[in-house]
Amino acid sequence: MAHPVLVVGMGGSLRTPSTSLTALRVAVEGAAAAGADTDVIALSRLDLPLYTAEHGVPPAARFLADLVYGADALLWSSPTYHGSVSGAFKNAVDWLALLADRDPPYLSNKPVGMLTTAGGVQGLQAINSMDFIVRALRGWSVPLVMAVPRSTRVFDADGNLKDRVVAEQLHGLGAEVTRAALQFRAEGTCDYAEGGLRGSVLGET
Ligand SMILES: Cc1cc2nc3c(=O)[nH]c(=O)nc-3n(C[C@H](O)[C@H](O)[C@H](O)COP(=O)(O)O)c2cc1C
Repeated sequence: MAHPVLVVGMGGSLRTPSTSLTALRVAVEGAAAAGADTDVIALSRLDLPLYTAEHGVPPAARFLADLVYGADALLWSSPTYHGSVSGAFKNAVDWLALLADRDPPYLSNKPVGMLTTAGGVQGLQAINSMDFIVRALRGWSVPLVMAVPRSTRVFDADGNLKDRVVAEQLHGLGAEVTRAALQFRAEGTCDYAEGGLRGSVLGET
């Protein structure tokens, strides 16, 4: 039997408890229930410095980049901050610049499932920000997304998810990401055709 796909979740806010970290863990459970091997990178535990290429590569950034590179698929979770992702989340994905020289580079051939928790009802703005980033990094945005609104009603004061329907939806997202990863494995890569799209789309002609 083929080995399971590896789904890596990354995100959460820097506060404790973090509802976006809880939501991420629930989605990752869904991936595990669908047969994936899983791992979670809680950004609050990474202690990443702000991105710069000037002073060498900090171990936390190397750890993040290696784990992401080894994943078949990703789950991204950020709190909605000011109509976008948090600065901490954006800083983490900026460190994925370390994957520029890998083969294949960045997030090539990796499906990425996206979720957010928001105090209000405009979490889709954070999802859209993530979508731009995924595509900039050559990843594949999974169409099913989860923007959990009104987080104080959905999570208790300890950050536990108390809404069963939301839990089921997050499980569904984890399962969908796993399904996409399996399909990528079965059907091969989706690399740009040599000389075809590459020249015109990426401006290399
Ligand atoms: C700096 C900051 C900016 C925020 N901006 C928004 C926002 O634009 N829209 C919104 O719905 N909620 C906003 N919120 C509320 C958070 O999205 C909400 O509390 C979220 O659940 C926090 O996630 P966490 O529990 O993982 O920290 C903001 C919170 C902070 C601290």
